[in-house]
Amino acid sequence: GKNAAKAGKTRNIIERMQQSDKNVMWFYGSQTGTAEDYASRLSKEAGARFGLKSMTGDLEEYDFENLDEVPEDTVLAFVLATYGEGEPTDNAVEFYEFITGDEPMFSKGESVEEKPLRNLKYIAFGLGNNTYEHYNSMVRRVDAALQKLGATRIGTAGEGDDGAGTMEEDFLSWKETMWEAYKNDVGLEEREAVYEPAFQIKEREDLTPESDSVYLGEPNSFHLEGNAKGLPFNAHNPFIAPIDSSKELFTTKDRNCLHMEINLKGSNLSYTTGDHVAVWPTNPGREVLRLLTVLGIAEKKDTVINVSPADSTAKVPFPTPTTYDAILRYHIEICAPVSRQFLAQLAPFAPSDEAKAKIELLGSDKDEFHKQVANQYFNIAQTLEAVAPGQIWKNIPFSLILEGLTKIQPRYYSISSSSHVQKDVVAITAVVESITVPGGTHVLKGVTTNYLLALKQKQHGEEDPEPNGLNYNLTGPRNRYDGVHVPVHIRHSNFKLPTDPTKPIIMIGPGTGVAPFRAFVQERAALAQEGQEVGKTILFFGCRKESEDFLYADEWKQYQEALGDNFKLITAFSRDGPKKVYVQHRLEEHAAEVDELLKKGAYFYVCGDAAHMAREVNTALGRIVAEQRGLTIQQGDEIVKRLRSSNLYQEDVWS
Ligand code: 2AM
Repeated sequence: GKNAAKAGKTRNIIERMQQSDKNVMWFYGSQTGTAEDYASRLSKEAGARFGLKSMTGDLEEYDFENLDEVPEDTVLAFVLATYGEGEPTDNAVEFYEFITGDEPMFSKGESVEEKPLRNLKYIAFGLGNNTYEHYNSMVRRVDAALQKLGATRIGTAGEGDDGAGTMEEDFLSWKETMWEAYKNDVGLEEREAVYEPAFQIKEREDLTPESDSVYLGEPNSFHLEGNAKGLPFNAHNPFIAPIDSSKELFTTKDRNCLHMEINLKGSNLSYTTGDHVAVWPTNPGREVLRLLTVLGIAEKKDTVINVSPADSTAKVPFPTPTTYDAILRYHIEICAPVSRQFLAQLAPFAPSDEAKAKIELLGSDKDEFHKQVANQYFNIAQTLEAVAPGQIWKNIPFSLILEGLTKIQPRYYSISSSSHVQKDVVAITAVVESITVPGGTHVLKGVTTNYLLALKQKQHGEEDPEPNGLNYNLTGPRNRYDGVHVPVHIRHSNFKLPTDPTKPIIMIGPGTGVAPFRAFVQERAALAQEGQEVGKTILFFGCRKESEDFLYADEWKQYQEALGDNFKLITAFSRDGPKKVYVQHRLEEHAAEVDELLKKGAYFYVCGDAAHMAREVNTALGRIVAEQRGLTIQQGDEIVKRLRSSNLYQEDVWS
């Protein structure tokens, strides 16, 4: 709520739309930025294709009491991501609670029965993941609430599925049916789409990158002026944290797993065991240069520019004046797989007729796009290179690049240290991602984990401080990214140890899913050493080979000493024997003990891969309960469901 107030903008939807002369508003409930990106793409399309006067809106910047007074010619859209266990995204909490409440209080005081929103026309799209239990529950619940209040939906309530990997295509096909419905229900004139830049770019010959007022990656003026301390550090303002130590956890050379200790002292940031730390990544220099080059602006990469909105509703997603290089390096997701729709928008700016035909095809033909672009996980620059080898796409307006790509998002890691043991220092446990694409033409490098690897190598003065030729620039002019600091903030989670340490806990954490459990066990070991009574603490850990990727192998021995018989580590080394053994197999081998502990009120925790492991563990537990108690599988599953709803079964999973 404070954001809008701070900027002096009204929280009244109607006033805000009137001030900017708009009558379509695309609200977003976004956590990782995708919903925000979709909202802004829809808003631009509404203007370019249909001449609608349209803007986006961050749900947390508005009040919703006067939804019953919205003028008839107004359309409101809700692009809503579902987060974690069916929760609203942080910026949508207030809206969600208000609109789904039993009796939301609207300005005219009408009751739900009177259908207070009978004049409201709305659009709905949800972003979800079907590997989670509460698939797209946000859009479903908000849509149901709006219907109940009498509002009229345009088109269907769309649902995109990240779990099936079809989010973008789900969005594109829903969007077309929605526009059809919009044309039919409300009346719309489609016109030849004209590109109007959302941003104006002005070169500043009076400034150089060394000038004090020029931003080189600093997220805001406080950082630029060196007085960020004293402000709250959060998702809008990272703390530039010193890295206390970093080390490699794997013994094998071909894969890396980092353990990094990050110091929060002096930041006022605090965490409790089970929370997440957000890391603000830097793009690798190799990809920055690739994009600058293919756009034909490599020679002026350090030219200072101002970027300003062409219209009062556009937001520049970074502070200026800055440079092309700094924008692409620190603020824009240039490494993400490119979207099909964006390719279609680039066609008019192709360097040759042949390139134009090719990129038009990729933009319109789903199968060709998948075969030539998506399967390879090509980013924007790699795609442009592949479409027109050796040619420069110098006609693409830089504004279009900023509009078509999303702003860089922090990445979240489960903290692997205990706040009871080290209250000011958080640990990260992260496998460095490196995937050979199908066909083996190139290797896809995780942006953030490779950045962390570069920091670790720099810190240790290792041979190759720029892993794999990625060229992370860790020594800029006055650079916060100096190789010994990393920008972070903390996100609090509900993944928590029982407050009573005598309660038994069962933890399932294969691979880096063990991160929060290292913290849990570290905490319980410390409590035991302080003389507290600690309950049974059982950890199921899985990895490929005992000799290669057995995370924290030596530490577990210390914890064992502190906790004695109360700690048990059960391992599943999947590639040491003739047959694959996974944590869920081990769980079934210990069925009797597991069920015994559940009956005693044990907490059950799962962390790691959502798509397969977490599901299979859930199924295995249902079976265990059924077999041990002589029940049907269905009854076993029911009991597991109840454990979930009473918070005794907790997940921290990712896909
Ligand atoms: P694998 O790679 O040999 O198949 C950490 O990644 C560990 O989790 C590895 O031992 C990996 O085994 C294992 N793993 C892979 N798929 C899994 C699944 N569906 N359930 C549980 N563990 C799995």
